[in-house]
Amino acid sequence: MHRHHIGIDVGSASITYAVVDTAAGRPTGPVRKVPTPDPASPVAVAEVLWALVEALSAEPRAPHPEASVGVALPAIIRHGVARSAAHIDDAWIGLDVGRFLTDRLGRAVHVINDADAAGLAEAHYGAGRGEAGRAVTGTVLVITLGAGIGSALIVDGRLVPNLELGHLEIDGAAAEVLASAAARERQGLDWPAYAERLQRYLSHLEFLFSPDLIVVGGGICVDHEQFLPRLRLGTPVVPAGLRDAAGVIGAARHAYLALPPLG
Ligand code: BGC
Repeated sequence: MHRHHIGIDVGSASITYAVVDTAAGRPTGPVRKVPTPDPASPVAVAEVLWALVEALSAEPRAPHPEASVGVALPAIIRHGVARSAAHIDDAWIGLDVGRFLTDRLGRAVHVINDADAAGLAEAHYGAGRGEAGRAVTGTVLVITLGAGIGSALIVDGRLVPNLELGHLEIDGAAAEVLASAAARERQGLDWPAYAERLQRYLSHLEFLFSPDLIVVGGGICVDHEQFLPRLRLGTPVVPAGLRDAAGVIGAARHAYLALPPLG
């Protein structure tokens, strides 16, 4: 088992990546970004990933060449196969992404939904971390606010994968159409108006799941003081501790823990 893994988080606008020390749950160097190709087809994204993995591997203190790579995608991922594609090309749907990227990159790649990656990272190393570095006991709901809304449910440190709570219908529309960071910008909402949207959404999630903790992540969290204090919930709500590195750290952790691919 290797301790250092490359973690990559493919977003609609940028691809974030870093070498991660999976024991510490921290990047070993800078967290970098490159633009996501447009269209974000599997072939175009794989080319970018290949180039950045090559570049990282040539750096001093690169991970072992046989250490697997973790990739987070905005897609439902069932046993390595994408079952949806949000804000990336539809050509991902039905693709065995793990196998495809393993072929293209020439090293073992393990794939995970982006919010699941962020959730795992927050639960084990970030805002959902309990005493002695363990995940908080109980039910932790991690919600990421970006181009869409991502969600992860972690129960006693274990992930319930592929929850798509951004697509939960609220007042006749998908929650992410009403309350994502992109929706705030698109609709020109000020912070109090945006906080009202989140209040409606998160109070519904609170009613459905009775979580012990809600962690809110996504790039918008640099401004968390503008909207989190306005929420009135019975559950503690905290900003993500790992900021925009959560996806990368969770992807690397997923690679560290995953079994070697078959075949
Ligand atoms: C997708 C999820 C993804 C989330 C955040 C949603 O639109 O359906 O799979 O985790 O966006 O990127």
